[in-house]
Amino acid sequence: MTDDHIVKLEAVWKVYRMGRRRRIEVEALRGVDLGVARGEFLAVTGPSGSGKSTLLHLMGCLDRPTKGRVLFEGEDVSALRATALARIRNRRVGFVFQSFNLSPTLSALGNVELPMIFAGVPRRERLRRARELLARVGLTERERHLPAELSGGEQQRVAIARALANSPDLLLADEPTGNLDSETGRGVLSLLSGSNADGVTVVVVTHDPEVAGIAHRVLRIRDGRIVEDTDA
Ligand SMILES: Nc1ncnc2c1ncn2[C@@H]1O[C@H](COP(=O)(O)OP(=O)(O)OP(=O)(O)O)[C@@H](O)[C@H]1O
Ligand SMILES: [Mg+2]
Repeated sequence: MTDDHIVKLEAVWKVYRMGRRRRIEVEALRGVDLGVARGEFLAVTGPSGSGKSTLLHLMGCLDRPTKGRVLFEGEDVSALRATALARIRNRRVGFVFQSFNLSPTLSALGNVELPMIFAGVPRRERLRRARELLARVGLTERERHLPAELSGGEQQRVAIARALANSPDLLLADEPTGNLDSETGRGVLSLLSGSNADGVTVVVVTHDPEVAGIAHRVLRIRDGRIVEDTDA
């Protein structure tokens, strides 16, 4: 590796094809160059439909670019097989989705355990770690609850605990405070900045000025392009 970027995008385009014969093209990202430094806390802002979630998905190896390169820890993601990509996602990336994406049939504890099952962590260690993470997000009393038996803020905290389960290098959060009242939102924020203080690189999509306020750097996206890149 020649630099200390955890993830780097080079002239990245993402074009979604849709409709009959997939002839309608949506250019979600149009030539994005971006390096995310290790240890950084980056906020991504911009209007609805500007490409923020698409950008996050590419950074997290959930998707591949149509054109250009995504380098994850120096490795070109488009050259990797699906299994290698899945491995990166499971071991090195934590993803907090715009809608929480918890498994509805698993308890809070089961949801946090799940990524560790995929990673082959032994049961006893898994339970210990899952309980520790739930304690960290203040949900020890809720470990047996199914997602439907949790409030929105509690579900979001479970999603964050799950994202941290395998000690990721990179934590990606898509509007993690979007559906929360300001008090609960602040709790979620302090979890993110706490992880960042522990050395996790954090990228968060947000409309919330408070989130942008604690970030080291704020990107603004419009129509699939970075139009502003400011250090705090
Ligand atoms: N799977 C898809 N197929 C087709 N078009 C898509 C797909 N996903 C996103 N798009 C389009 O790509 C553009 C960027 O979408 P994206 O979800 O990245 O926006 P966003 O900035 O996250 O918006 P929001 O703030 O509303 O979440 C939008 O115009 C959207 O309609
Ligand atoms: Mg989005």
